Amino acid sequence: MQHAESKTQEEMFTTQNWSAYTAEQHEVWGILYGRRMEQLGDTASQVFLRGADAIGLNRDQVPDLKDVNQRLGEMTGWQSVPVTGFIPAGEFFRCLAERRFPTTVTLRSREQLEYLEEPDIFHDIFGHVPLHADTVFADLLQRFGKVAAMAESEEEITRMARLFWFTIEFGLVKESGDVKLYGSGLISSIADGANALSDNCDRRPFDLDAVMDQHFEIDHLQDVLFVIESFDQLFEAVEVLGGPR
Ligand SMILES: [Fe+2]
Repeated sequence: MQHAESKTQEEMFTTQNWSAYTAEQHEVWGILYGRRMEQLGDTASQVFLRGADAIGLNRDQVPDLKDVNQRLGEMTGWQSVPVTGFIPAGEFFRCLAERRFPTTVTLRSREQLEYLEEPDIFHDIFGHVPLHADTVFADLLQRFGKVAAMAESEEEITRMARLFWFTIEFGLVKESGDVKLYGSGLISSIADGANALSDNCDRRPFDLDAVMDQHFEIDHLQDVLFVIESFDQLFEAVEVLGGPR
């Protein structure tokens, strides 16, 4: 998601040519998957772990969106739609409102295993999409899209971008008394995930106003993050923002 100039549908949306991925790319995916899963068993939310299994992610190959969407469709009706890169915030949120998740289909190279400035399929499919298999998260993300798509002023858009950043991208959740990772930026990056659970990071209880007032910068490790008690709590916060339907 990013504020950007308007783009045409053809510039934004693309297709995944799955058979064009090379052996090297499948191998890079396998390395990324293996290194990250080794740690996520202990550090990630059960909602992520269950979802990754449910959508069929595995070490052997770059995910085929046809298969992922088939499984997701049956579980929650969410679909991943291939995009060429960042799309404007308004368009992004309108997609969410329709249970369509804009997904990049390119993959980082072996030289960029740990960090990539732009999202790629590892960030988008490994980091985001497993959560879409969960019925509570599925509803909350759609509702988020509907509410955010209504934001008009620069200030409202900034506040929704902060809420997105501190939950969907970098959120933490309490499970059985422990703080676990669920935000895609934490799930898909070893360094960000470790930082989020370390003493370098001030983990604050989720509070809607505090989150929407919290400035963020994207290009370094986060020193403040927010912990939700449950996805129901986040769902209710988004409901409150939307006002009466
Ligand atoms: Fe993301």
